[in-house]
Amino acid sequence: MTTTRILTVDRERPDPAAIEEAAQALRDGKLVVFPTETVYGLGAHALDVAAVQKIFDAKERPATDPLIVHIAHIGQVSQLATGMPGGARKLALSFWAGPLTLILKKKTEVPDLVTAGLPNVALRVPSHRVARALMEMSGIPIAAPSANRFSRPSPTTAAHVIEDLEGRVDLILDAGPTDIGLESTIVDFAVDPPVLRRPGGITLEQVRLLVPEVVPQTGEEGPDRPQPSPGQLTRHYAPRASLTLFEGSPNRVVARLAADARTAVAQGSKVGILAPEEDLLALAALIAPAAAAGKIAVQPYGARSDIERAGRELFSAIRAIDAAGVDVIFASSVGSDGLARAIRDRLTRAAEGRVRTVGVDGGQLS
Ligand code: TXA
Ligand code: MG
Repeated sequence: MTTTRILTVDRERPDPAAIEEAAQALRDGKLVVFPTETVYGLGAHALDVAAVQKIFDAKERPATDPLIVHIAHIGQVSQLATGMPGGARKLALSFWAGPLTLILKKKTEVPDLVTAGLPNVALRVPSHRVARALMEMSGIPIAAPSANRFSRPSPTTAAHVIEDLEGRVDLILDAGPTDIGLESTIVDFAVDPPVLRRPGGITLEQVRLLVPEVVPQTGEEGPDRPQPSPGQLTRHYAPRASLTLFEGSPNRVVARLAADARTAVAQGSKVGILAPEEDLLALAALIAPAAAAGKIAVQPYGARSDIERAGRELFSAIRAIDAAGVDVIFASSVGSDGLARAIRDRLTRAAEGRVRTVGVDGGQLS
């Protein structure tokens, strides 16, 4: 057990003394949790193998899952990657600093532990002032996965980090809730054509406007389709209760979700419902008796009419409904384009395959 020091910092004008303390801790090979615009990151000196090993130990993360290296600006890419294809340059110039990670061929200076033995490194320039100040003051590249215990939802507040990692990290910089709430978009330029490895804060549509060749990871690429990012197939964002995702036209999703919730309650389960506000409103009358009896707990995350807020609130909402002590969670998604693609991706992973598609094509409820 380590004693975890928690420092509150202003998100716009972080106290230089606090940042210097965190920067020194990183240079000394310690673990520092810091906010980014996406989620909180668990940082260590990226070129110090012993420090990077501590990340895997603290998170209980398998060594097969590579880490993103955070840098202060595009000028540092050449220290870590052998080159930058034209498409990667375009995306970096448009979306850095911001929620975009680029996978490039790595230089030998990057430890194999960081990249899980892969010949490629994932690089990102975050825009959060605290993250930027930390990288500028420390002068080192910082390896940082999301600051959650392995397989838990990513942390969007310092309280989430404390829940998962207190006693396992040296310092936490608390700058309040993060803006985007979903992890960065990852585009892999180590393959041709480039592949969207993880949808996130920058949408596939935005990426393709600049680099039309980028293909989504899943789809009809056939048997030769590129391998998924390591770590992307493992259990992720998983609440303790088993989660089922309902998809399809909103009306039918609401009807099916309510019917299944009533059935589960009749069978003795306590049910949690995780849904955007419009769905909860439509559901209320359908589940009223069970909800009044305390057999159903509901948790909103944003609204279909406000997808950005849905993204910001999703992980916090998953933690909250899980903490309500439910046996099963029934969730509805907010669509599949733009930012909703990232939300759907995280819910699909949390569901670990339990996805029920209802009422597409106006067909029979499944
Ligand atoms: O928004 C974010 O990206 C946050 C903040 C802290 O920056 N970080 C984050 O890291 O989400 P993490 O470790 O939870 O997810 C990074 C994922 C890994 O699971 C892995 O799939 C992929 O990035 N990745 C990292 N390096 C890679 C590489 N060399 N090749 C392929 N995939 C890689
Ligand atoms: Mg993560």
